[in-house]
Amino acid sequence: MNAIERRISTTVLVIGTGGSGLRAAIEVAEQGVDVLAVGKRPRHDAHTSLAAGGINAALGTMDEEDSWQQHAADTIQEGYLLSNPHTVEIVTKGAEQGIRDLERWGMPFARENDGRISQRFFGAHTYRRTAFAGDYTGLEIQRTLVNRTEQLDIPILDTVYITRILVRDNVVFGAYGFDLIDGTRYLIHADAVILAAGGHNRIWRRTSSRRDENTGDSFRLAVEAGGRLRDPELVQFHPSGIIEPENAAGTLISEAARGEGGILRNALGERFMERYDPERMELSTRDRVALAAYTEIKEGRGTEKGGVLLDVSHLPRETIMTRLPRVYQTMMELQMLDITQQPIEIAPTAHYSMGGVWVRPEDHSTDVDGLYAIGEASNGLHGANRLGGNSLIELLVFGRIVGQAAVAHASGLEAQLRSADAVAFARQEIDSLLAADGTENVRALQRAIRNTMTEHAGVVRDEEGLTAGLVALDEIEARMGDIGIHPDIAGFQDLAHAFDLKASLLAARATVEAARERRETRGAHNRSDYPDLDPSLQVNLVWSPSTGVTREEVPPVPAEIAALMRDVDVTGKLVE
Ligand code: FUM
Repeated sequence: MNAIERRISTTVLVIGTGGSGLRAAIEVAEQGVDVLAVGKRPRHDAHTSLAAGGINAALGTMDEEDSWQQHAADTIQEGYLLSNPHTVEIVTKGAEQGIRDLERWGMPFARENDGRISQRFFGAHTYRRTAFAGDYTGLEIQRTLVNRTEQLDIPILDTVYITRILVRDNVVFGAYGFDLIDGTRYLIHADAVILAAGGHNRIWRRTSSRRDENTGDSFRLAVEAGGRLRDPELVQFHPSGIIEPENAAGTLISEAARGEGGILRNALGERFMERYDPERMELSTRDRVALAAYTEIKEGRGTEKGGVLLDVSHLPRETIMTRLPRVYQTMMELQMLDITQQPIEIAPTAHYSMGGVWVRPEDHSTDVDGLYAIGEASNGLHGANRLGGNSLIELLVFGRIVGQAAVAHASGLEAQLRSADAVAFARQEIDSLLAADGTENVRALQRAIRNTMTEHAGVVRDEEGLTAGLVALDEIEARMGDIGIHPDIAGFQDLAHAFDLKASLLAARATVEAARERRETRGAHNRSDYPDLDPSLQVNLVWSPSTGVTREEVPPVPAEIAALMRDVDVTGKLVE
C-alpha cells in the first residue's frame, strides 16, 4: 500500500457533521473530553440544513394546555404504536431543554411581538408546538451548532469518508477512512464512536435528499461492525416533493406550506383530502396525505405530469414571504414559478428513515460496545409514521444524552485493545476497490437500485413486487463484482460512490426483506395485498444479514400517556 496514512487518536469520534453529530460533539467537548467529528460533505451544507418547517416541543407558548405528555401521546398514536415509549418519553420530556440549549447558543427562532417563541401547527399535532425560523429552521439550527463547535474549538474534518468502524471482540476501537480530495487514508483510534451519518432515503428515485446524501452509510457501517437494524422498511414518504426539473425531483416543499393554510387539489380542482381525512384535511398525518396524493395520481385524477396541486396563493403575500421564504425561493429558482400566484405541482417523495440502527432507548448504545447511533441513523421515536418536526428535536435531546454516554463509556475503559487484522482488512478493502477496473459504472448501479426501490418498494407495496425487488437486487449485486473505480484529478469521489453503493445495496435489501415480512398496512407501510392493520404485527422488525428478519416486542405505553391517546382512525386510508 503506497497511500499516505494519517493516524489520529481521540476519545470520541463522531461520524457525520449534521445536527445530531454536532450536537453530540458539543456535549462531549463541554464535558472537557476530546472529540473529533468527520463528515463527507461540508458541515455548513450538511443535510440538516435542508430541514425546513420546524422543531417540536410542548412549550405552550401559543396553546398553554400543551404538555410533554400530550406530545408523547400524539407521537405514539400517530406512529401506529411502533414507537418505543421510553424513547418517546425521553424526547418529549427533554424537548424544552433542547430548545433552551439552542436559544442559549443564539438560535434565531421566530417570535411573537411580546417575545414568546412562535409555534405553528404541523400535521396531526393536537396543539401548536412546532417552533421555527421561517422555513429555514434546519439551516439556522445547523448554523447555531457550527458556531458553538467553533466556540469550543472542536476539530472537524469536512472531507473524510469513513469506510469501516474498527472493532475487536465486539468493542469499538476507532474507524478507518480516506480523504475525498487527495485520497489520504485515515486511521482514527477512538474509545467511543458515534454514528450520525443519516438514513437511507436516497435509495428511491424521488427523494428529498441530494446526491450522495442518506445513501445508507450508517446502516452499512453499523451492520459490518456487528450491529443490527430495526424497522428498515418504515420509510416516510413526504407528501410534497416537486416533480420537475428531473434532476431536482423530490426537492421538499415544507409541510409548513400546509401548516400555514395551503390547500391540496387534484387536476379536477377537487380538494381531495375531504375524501381521506375530512376532519384534519391537509393537516392530516404524512402517511395519510402522501397516500391520498399517490392514490389521486394513480387513479387518474393527477396532473398531466403526474402530480397534484398544493396552493398557497390565497395566503397573504406577507405570510408567504416571512413564513415560507424558502418555498418561494426554491420555486422561483427551479421552475420560475411564483407561488403567490400559482399552485405547486407535487408528488410524494422519500423523505425520512424511521427505522435505523438498532439502539437501546436510554442511551442509543448499539449491539457493539462503544458504538452509538443517533438521528436518522437510529430509530425508536417515530414508529410507523413520523410527526413533522420530531426529528430535529430528537437530535437535540439525544445529542446531549449520547455525548454523555460516549464519555461515560470511554471513562470506564481500563484499556483499549486493538486489532491489527481489522485495520489490515480496512486497508485492503480500499486497495481492492482502487484496483477494480471492470466495466460496470457505479453511478449506473446506484440508479438501478433507485429504480428497483421505486418500482418495488415505494408508497404502496405487495408480495409479488417485493419478491421481484429482491431478485433485482441480487442481479445488481452480481454486477457489482465487475465495477471500475477511477479516482481522477478532481478527487476520490468515485471511490466514495463505490462505498455508497455497497451501503445502498445493504439498506435496500434490509428494507425489502423487512417490508415483505410486514404483511399488513401500518403508517407509511402500505401493502395493497394486506390492506389492514394486523395487531399481531404490533412489533418492531429487526434485521441483520445473518439472522434475516426477527420480531421484537414493543414495550407497553405508560397509562398516563395512553389516557391521552385517541384511536388511530384508518378510515379513508385507501389502498387500491
Ligand atoms: O415539511 C417539512 O418542513 C419537514 C419537516 C420534517 O421532516 O420534520
